[in-house]
Amino acid sequence: MNHRPERLDQELALLARYYDARHGSFQEDVDFYRQLAQGRDLVLELGCGTGRLLAPLAEEARLVVGIDRSAAMLARAQERLRGAGPGPRVSLVAADLRDWACQGAELAVAALNTLSHFTDLPSQERVLASTRRSLRDGGLLALDVPNPHVEMDARPTGVAVLEATYRTPEGTLMEWSVAEVARASQLLTIRSLYDLCGGSGIRRQTTVFDLYLYYLPELTLLLERAGFRVEATWGDYDAAPYRDDSPRLLCLARAV
Ligand SMILES: C[S@@+](CC[C@H](N)C(=O)[O-])C[C@H]1O[C@@H](n2cnc3c(N)ncnc32)[C@H](O)[C@@H]1O
Repeated sequence: MNHRPERLDQELALLARYYDARHGSFQEDVDFYRQLAQGRDLVLELGCGTGRLLAPLAEEARLVVGIDRSAAMLARAQERLRGAGPGPRVSLVAADLRDWACQGAELAVAALNTLSHFTDLPSQERVLASTRRSLRDGGLLALDVPNPHVEMDARPTGVAVLEATYRTPEGTLMEWSVAEVARASQLLTIRSLYDLCGGSGIRRQTTVFDLYLYYLPELTLLLERAGFRVEATWGDYDAAPYRDDSPRLLCLARAV
């Protein structure tokens, strides 16, 4: 499902409304990024979303910049930062990562699938080239994408799976997902159905996103072509080796 830009922003606005119910308190990767950010001058979070990682990063680094194309995501990040209090050490930028660059960053973080949102080769090349421009020589890019070997078979195709049920102030929220994998194009399409059951009945809202499934050799080549050298890969946030059945594909690349 390749969205037109305005359609993508609508989908992201809807995702922003529900993202935190599922991922807002996800903590498993926080220490991994904290360690990388420790003592750094300027840290970028690429696709910072609702700002889950911004305050922890700002506790370690002098300045953190969160970049995201979605105004709805950034509004939620702003709200979250007000509660957390790192104040002026975090700034938010509304921009498309394919075009935006700064200078002199020491670390760029692309957490929880941000890079998977770039589903075609020109977009992938552009976002990596912009990131390279933003980093000083020797700077680091840390990225976290799904393990393609797991995702290709993990979900029953076309079947609605109940992911979770949450209590919200407006009622009970049920999140379903329907996944389709296109192996030839390495795309995982996830249709999420959000059913809010409240006083006035059930309201269903739907988002559809494509996630690109990177294989490690291809990711390594993409990074090398953009001016990075892969220094380490892991299969989980506890530095476990990357294997066929690892939950994630984590990669640390140095700007050379
Ligand atoms: C899966 S969310 C990750 C959020 C956050 N990094 C986290 O770990 O919770 C991916 C984010 O990337 C953003 N994004 C997708 N395409 C983008 C683009 N072309 N430019 C900037 N941000 C983009 C989305 O708006 C979304 O907030």
